[in-house]
Amino acid sequence: MNATYSLLFKQAQALAAPEFGHISNMANAAALLYRALPQVNWLGFYILDGKTLRLGPFHGEPACTQIPLGRGVCGTAAAQNKTLIVPDVHQFEGHIACDSASQSEIVVPIVREGQVWAVLDVDSPVLNRFGPEEQELFEAVARLF
Ligand code: SME
Repeated sequence: MNATYSLLFKQAQALAAPEFGHISNMANAAALLYRALPQVNWLGFYILDGKTLRLGPFHGEPACTQIPLGRGVCGTAAAQNKTLIVPDVHQFEGHIACDSASQSEIVVPIVREGQVWAVLDVDSPVLNRFGPEEQELFEAVARLF
């Protein structure tokens, strides 16, 4: 991880603790990352409830409250338990446009006891914003939960 992201991760780590509960931890992580990262217009969490992802703590424009598992970038990443980097959301069939400013996106599954229970979703108003460095940062953050 580069020095900037490593410092950011350490800050996220310092803010999160199991005794605070996952909603509070996610809320602080969303605030920290959203403010620290340039060219990000939406950053937040969706929490899996049965076969539906429900909107969790986030920063950015109001967003869709429910995403069926397997739908959109979030539902696909959750169903496949795999990080998805989408360089151009207009090229992703089934992309759900919550904020029309979004051009590129990364979704990282959050896994507990081998099961996906949430995803971290980050949108950018520029194309191709997310690469391996961001994947490494967000996957490390996801492991905090
Ligand atoms: N674009 C996402 C929906 C969530 S918003 O980006 C906040 C998707 O296609 O799943």
